[in-house]
Amino acid sequence: MRTYLVTGGAGFIGSNYIHYMFEKYGEDIRIINVDALTYAGNLENLKEVENRENYTFVRADICDKEALRKLFTENEIHRVVHFAAESHVDRSIRDPEVFVRTNVLGTLVLLNCAKEAWEQADGSYLPDRRFLHVSTDEVYGSLEEEGTFFYETTPYDPHSPYSASKASSDMLVKAYMDTYHFPANITNCSNNYGPYQFPEKLIPLMINNALQGKKLPVYGDGKNVRDWLYVRDHVKAIDMVQEKGRLFETYNIGGHNEKQNIEIIHIILETLQDMLPKEDPRRKLVSKELITYVEDRKGHDRRYAIAPDKIRAEIGWEPETMFQEGIRLTIQWYFEHGDWMKRVTSGEYQKYYADFYKV
Ligand code: NAD
Ligand code: TYD
Repeated sequence: MRTYLVTGGAGFIGSNYIHYMFEKYGEDIRIINVDALTYAGNLENLKEVENRENYTFVRADICDKEALRKLFTENEIHRVVHFAAESHVDRSIRDPEVFVRTNVLGTLVLLNCAKEAWEQADGSYLPDRRFLHVSTDEVYGSLEEEGTFFYETTPYDPHSPYSASKASSDMLVKAYMDTYHFPANITNCSNNYGPYQFPEKLIPLMINNALQGKKLPVYGDGKNVRDWLYVRDHVKAIDMVQEKGRLFETYNIGGHNEKQNIEIIHIILETLQDMLPKEDPRRKLVSKELITYVEDRKGHDRRYAIAPDKIRAEIGWEPETMFQEGIRLTIQWYFEHGDWMKRVTSGEYQKYYADFYKV
């Protein structure tokens, strides 16, 4: 039985990955989820799996060498899937330090612990060991012209402290592959959306605000473009890269679904109107009048767009969920998890929101 060490499994993509993996492999795998439970980590995301015999949660910081080393010595780990990170660009602009600590130092600590556990006396590695570093398309910088795309060969050009820290962590993984022949892959994915996404990010923030008749803050002219991928398609790709990808390779993952932010907001408003039952009082609150243009994000990247040609050709992965379907699934999930939203938006979130959006 293979054991997976998942970092950041209590966050948005990590929890979707854990659900996907148990649905796919059932009792055939074991997952150890290590997460520090920052503001973004939420064990409620994993309620359905917490009692499984083949699932263990360990609260630890990935920068804590001793805690991680202990996990590797006490367990035979075959796969590492590394999600844990500080992930929000706006927070990185205000407080870059924690991004460097977790994203760069934390990745280094994890690499060292895996290397120490997997490397043999002759410098080769135990068989069937793989480390997957989950990264972002933001490391490639910003595209201006329509029709241009990020490829695996696109030079890194990060602009925000978040993307700079992710780029640095990618470079460390590359260095371990090149220097030590460490068995790893890197995936660079475009913007995700779907269940369990923390409402500091565009899509859940707009859904949550619209349902309460709160302003919808659009940065700048609202024409920045992101390439949106339904999270389940991403986690499926991660599993496929670990099973079928060539070691030491980077794979770009994207939805071929470019949309301007303002288009996304209009789609959300229309879909909410369509999905809310006639008698639901929130129908009256959901309105285009809520759209409010606010000061632009500093250093705001204009456009991201992934060319997922390599992963399609080599691994056979393609996005399966069209945006119209994915956004309905997402909204339906938020309808059914109103309590989840209430809990994650109480306390610290209120303070963050009031402070950041000056309301
Ligand atoms: P998230 O912010 O929702 O979750 C991050 C998780 O990491 C949380 O559970 C948090 O508690 C945990 N964590 C943070 N610091 C930690 C530390 N020091 N030690 C242990 N755990 C810690 O993030 P997400 O959106 O799920 O993103 C997961 C990964 O995917 C990140 O590496 C991110 O860069 C990458 N990524 C995200 C997107 C996206 O659209 N969200 C797109 C591409 C790549
Ligand atoms: P976000 O979800 O933070 O992802 P990223 O910056 O990593 O791509 O933001 C997506 C886009 O939405 C980005 O162009 C910034 C914009 N945005 C707003 O216009 N208003 C908001 O309140 C937020 C959170 C984002």
